[in-house]
Amino acid sequence: MNPVTESEVRAACLPNPARPSRPALRQAPPELPVSDILAEIGRIADLPLPQATTLPPQAYTSEEFFRWEIANLFENDWIALCHVSQIPNTGDFLNLEVFGEPLIVVRTKEGDIRVLSRVCPHRAMDIMPPGFGYDGHGMATPHEGKPGCGNTRFFLCPYHFWTFELDGGLKACAEMGEAEGFQRDEWGLRGFRTEVWNGFVFVNLDGGVPRTVAEQYASLAADMAPWNPAEMELIVANEWDCSFNWKVLAENFMESYHHAGAHSKTLQPMMRARDTWTEEEKPFHIRCHLPMRETVRAEIQEKENSGDGWDNFPPIPGLPEEERFSWGLVMAYPLFTFVYTADSLIWYRILPVAPDRLQLLTTILVPKSSTELPDFEARRERANRAGIDFHLEDMEVCMAVQRGLATAGYQRGRLSHLEMPVWLIQRYLAARSRGTWPTMDRPAAPSQQP
Ligand code: FES
Ligand SMILES: [Fe+2]
Repeated sequence: MNPVTESEVRAACLPNPARPSRPALRQAPPELPVSDILAEIGRIADLPLPQATTLPPQAYTSEEFFRWEIANLFENDWIALCHVSQIPNTGDFLNLEVFGEPLIVVRTKEGDIRVLSRVCPHRAMDIMPPGFGYDGHGMATPHEGKPGCGNTRFFLCPYHFWTFELDGGLKACAEMGEAEGFQRDEWGLRGFRTEVWNGFVFVNLDGGVPRTVAEQYASLAADMAPWNPAEMELIVANEWDCSFNWKVLAENFMESYHHAGAHSKTLQPMMRARDTWTEEEKPFHIRCHLPMRETVRAEIQEKENSGDGWDNFPPIPGLPEEERFSWGLVMAYPLFTFVYTADSLIWYRILPVAPDRLQLLTTILVPKSSTELPDFEARRERANRAGIDFHLEDMEVCMAVQRGLATAGYQRGRLSHLEMPVWLIQRYLAARSRGTWPTMDRPAAPSQQP
């Protein structure tokens, strides 16, 4: 295999809304009705881990199945959109598309955070269409180097210049005096149900999720507490336009079997694939542990004893010993996905766009105190570089996997016990298709803790 260069991978992943989502040369794999795909997922999800097999390929390629996922996994659940440190001041906002909904996340005059539709209640104009609404047009000032982010005193629809308050209320509209019964306060931007939990801003698009974010992720709270994410700062955000299904990424993110392959020079020397393990199955999240090799631990301890740091930033104060010398992976259903490291949180914002496409934001968060170090910029650059290096390895395999899934030569594969998270994701899909959650109508799969 010829190595793919960084610039080739980057070129393939650069945001490019014009790129068709699928070349559609031929029908491989053949279309299957959603009910058949779900029946097959249900069947394999009930196999014990030693008998586990991969999903049917249509789960990664079918438009109809993707629409099922949007309706049954995403629109009716909590989706993390940003971290509060991305919009710290009144009027700070960011724009994004979530399952086709153009949204603004904004900090209001009262200091709270709203998620608003960008669709104007007058004649449906997107009030900040990409490349238009925020970069010098209207009254918003763009934030340098942060696409879609800016600051504004209010929002201006560029079509007929209706203006809106930061909370979405209609502030002014010219020439509407003759519209009978027109009440200005009835014509604001639509708001979506929003909650901030541990510093992350979540939206629920259909407004009907029966749990708060805190209730849904209660079993994560203690795990997360030492990092105190509400007080962290997001210091890196890289956008990627990925040509693969969201589950290709989720599976890749959560299983560490591939350290031995794709990351043989980057992560494997630090955290060996065969040492990684997955906790007992939970209803709302998957948690994996990636302990460092004994030799690496010894090196770290030696460096620390000699007064030298070893990571890019000082370790998070008060981390339990085990967390100091391992990485922790979390996938909180449906899409809240991150890595605990000794000095940071690495959060991946995954926004599925099509069966073979997703928008990805890879980020790094560190405690505020780390951003105040005199050589912060150099450290930030080092952390960003290291993150990009192993991320590119993942992007390369994920792109190739998606191509493989849509070929006539594709075969359903068997799973290693190290791929327990891949099987847990299947069990999550199966449980959601039964209208429940993992462990609620089946016994929980046991932990692999050594
Ligand atoms: S569509 Fe927005 S002001 Fe007319
Ligand atoms: Fe990876």
